[in-house]
Amino acid sequence: MDKKLKNIKGLMAKHETSFYVYFEGIIKRQIDILLDNFPQFEFLYSIKTNPFQPIVDYVVSKGLGADAASAKEVFISHEAGLPYEKILYSTPGKTRKDIERTIDKAIIIADSYNELILINSIAKNLNTNIKVGLRVNPDFNMDGEKGISSKFGVDESTLINHREFFKSLTNIKIAGLHIHIKSQVLDYMKLYQYYENIFKLAEYCKDKLNWDIDFINFGGGLGLVYSLTNDAPLDIKTLGYKCNDLIEKCKNKLKARFIIETGRFVICEAGYYVTPITDIKESMGTKYLIVEKGLNGFLRPSIAELLASNIPEMEIKKSIEPLYTVKDAFEFLIPEGDANIFEKVSIVGSLCTATDIMVKDLLVPKADIGDYIVVTKAGSYSYSLSPLLFAGHELPLQFYIKQD
Ligand SMILES: Cc1ncc(COP(=O)(O)O)c(C=O)c1O
Repeated sequence: MDKKLKNIKGLMAKHETSFYVYFEGIIKRQIDILLDNFPQFEFLYSIKTNPFQPIVDYVVSKGLGADAASAKEVFISHEAGLPYEKILYSTPGKTRKDIERTIDKAIIIADSYNELILINSIAKNLNTNIKVGLRVNPDFNMDGEKGISSKFGVDESTLINHREFFKSLTNIKIAGLHIHIKSQVLDYMKLYQYYENIFKLAEYCKDKLNWDIDFINFGGGLGLVYSLTNDAPLDIKTLGYKCNDLIEKCKNKLKARFIIETGRFVICEAGYYVTPITDIKESMGTKYLIVEKGLNGFLRPSIAELLASNIPEMEIKKSIEPLYTVKDAFEFLIPEGDANIFEKVSIVGSLCTATDIMVKDLLVPKADIGDYIVVTKAGSYSYSLSPLLFAGHELPLQFYIKQD
């Protein structure tokens, strides 16, 4: 951390404003964990997690493909040098224009029967034949229960009745399956059983629907420790071992690309949000550190605080991804604070709304105006998920620190 803090201090001294900084060394560490433990799988980086181009470029240089959730994310992935078959474009509600602009750049994952018809008609107009995937809303969840209604994909139970419909699509062929039902899973057994269920579903699609399956995209879900008090880390070694075993058993029946999507696992811990303290005041017994950009720089801590302040702890039963994971997900460091004197403070932003609170009643080293706050776990769902334009403030800067 010392070396990183030195980088952060240097950047703050030079720019004197709020910024994100991403450390390539941590991205490398995370990608290497995946590549070492899942040799039979391909990984797609979920661009929405953090589309900053140097990050995408590095991730691509490590061999990952892209999980693109918009036409723009397809272009970002394409510009990073990814070939057609390594960009999978999946999201509900694609427009004709979205499809027309990306049809030669990415494998499109259709999200509905209507969309299959639309892609087919576009391919027909272009006088071409293409392979597409289909996102399926499965009949199972990750807790061994039945599936639920979803805006994503088509219900598994409706597939069989569309057998003739699939055959009628003249210019597209369904060559892959995409499923994603949950993020931030820390129980390896839940993920493993989910992967097993997806294999069974893929076999069903091959046998009963005659799909020629080229790829199975198992979606995201690999979780990280956010709460140091409550989360136990995902046992990635055991998960990898079991998954590779599963593939050994199944690969003769299904010769396909096995794909896992991941965003936060790769980038979350590599990012820090840094913002200077611009004022300090006391009001009715509470000490406030006012920072340059609170929720309009990094939204997620404020949502955690908002939920914690308004909903009894017992009632917040689960995370609301990607907006909220757990209450104590982030650490707030004040490297220049006086470590001999600790004070209870609320760290708040400068917006004209009382909800602009990053954290309440936190014990921190005594800080002065001009010191800066460093917030951890700011690599994922941070810059791209925050209302950066609110109240016309300058955008936070972004820096990427290479390993060397
Ligand atoms: C379809 C899909 N794949 C992958 C991801 C990334 O998941 P994670 O946050 O588990 O990295 C998401 C996140 O929303 C998603 O919607």
